Amino acid sequence: MRHTIVTLGTALLAHSARASLGGPLQFSEEGTFQISIFEDLHFGENAWESWGPAQDAKSITVLNKVLDAESRPDLVVLNGDLITGENTFLENSTSYVDQIVAPFVARGLPWASTYGNHDGQYNLSSTALLARENKYPGSLTQSMVPGREAGVTNYYLPVYGSGTRRPWSAPKLILWFFDSRGGSYFQERDDEGNEVPRPNWVDYSVVRWFRRTNNYLTGRYRKTIPSLVFVHIPTNASRAAQTVDGINEYREPGINDDYALAQQGEGWCEDGTNDNAQCPYGGQDEPLMEALVEIPGILGVFSGHDHGDTWCYKWDTQIEGMNIKGNGVNLCFGQHSGYGGYGNWIRGARQVLVEEKALKRGELDTWIRLESGDVVGSVSLNATYGEELYPATPNDKTYL
Ligand SMILES: *[C@@H]1O[C@H](CO)[C@@H](O)[C@H](O)[C@H]1NC(C)=O
Ligand SMILES: *[C@@H]1O[C@H](CO)[C@@H](O)[C@H](O)[C@H]1NC(C)=O
Ligand SMILES: *[C@@H]1O[C@H](CO)[C@@H](O)[C@H](O)[C@H]1NC(C)=O
Ligand SMILES: *[C@@H]1O[C@H](CO)[C@@H](O)[C@H](O)[C@H]1NC(C)=O
Repeated sequence: MRHTIVTLGTALLAHSARASLGGPLQFSEEGTFQISIFEDLHFGENAWESWGPAQDAKSITVLNKVLDAESRPDLVVLNGDLITGENTFLENSTSYVDQIVAPFVARGLPWASTYGNHDGQYNLSSTALLARENKYPGSLTQSMVPGREAGVTNYYLPVYGSGTRRPWSAPKLILWFFDSRGGSYFQERDDEGNEVPRPNWVDYSVVRWFRRTNNYLTGRYRKTIPSLVFVHIPTNASRAAQTVDGINEYREPGINDDYALAQQGEGWCEDGTNDNAQCPYGGQDEPLMEALVEIPGILGVFSGHDHGDTWCYKWDTQIEGMNIKGNGVNLCFGQHSGYGGYGNWIRGARQVLVEEKALKRGELDTWIRLESGDVVGSVSLNATYGEELYPATPNDKTYL
């Protein structure tokens, strides 16, 4: 007992200046919390020729340039496809983690990951990836939902207010992380010797856990805590926004080249069989979309996967053809951050700035920091986002 009290006291001291590495996240003394989202880094391509390692070196340069330009984010999010697992080798697939996180370790920054469809492959175990990440005190990535079907990176992180006395006070913000899976099961083959595809949506067991855990948090703290969601593959709502409602380059600034975008449930039939040729979309992300509009306080859902889409869209209507009505939640893509993976759109990383004061009005600020140092797509995700006009984002490409 005494030991527990001493440990707690020491922990509180360590947190009083700035959240210590691996400890609970906290708003700064100025009441701000900034997140740098890197997505689709795709490390580990073509290790057998000079091209692959050269891409990885360039991706590391992107990480360093963005982190130098943004004075000091409070958290880095790796929003899926850290590694191109189809190209890596069984014996060292997860070792790419060491290269990816080196810039965060050097700066003493904590990070939290979601895994993407390339992070779970025949030669790359996403469970082993988590173990490799968790060797570092700065890794906040967890796995809170058990079971083969759940995937790995399903968890939440509380963010406490500046100057609050954890662990008694309510968090000011909750960050949810979901695993949209995809790719293949690790070292599994079917009777014909083929790799076994993993479904590419957030599993229903995870959606049930999300609702249950949200109920628990709401009950425990007797209030709705605002939250953000990170998931690699976007839902059908993003696709409907793009193809039915349409993305306006001034109202929803961003690159919109991946048209129609790839979504959860793509290439799967409604009965759960994998058939890319016959089934464009099986609708399995409906339970997640329902949870996203029914759970109050979700301010934004951040995805990657579609390297050529970088906009945010406020889902506040019933888009024609859909039976789920948006409640104003902002659906955002980030920016392709890696030199691995398809496309030559200029690399960068979405930044999200949460201010304690603005949180009360349900507002977030966000922009994309490019590897060139420029900022594009700086918008306020407030009540009228989608109505104001902003400068259009130039569709720049880089060929280094
Ligand atoms: C993994 O192993 C391959 C094959 O031996 C090698 O080419 C590659 O450089 C290794 N990657 C890392 C990150 O060690
Ligand atoms: C998996 O790793 C093994 C051993 O390094 C390698 O021979 C094989 O080519 C890799 N890729 C796949 C898809 O099996
Ligand atoms: C997905 O979006 C399309 C419009 O792009 C819509 O017709 C369809 O009903 C939606 N499906 C679900 C399950 O939301
Ligand atoms: C939302 O932000 C924009 C840009 O800063 C601003 O022009 C607009 O008035 C804001 N809307 C509200 C409701 O505050």
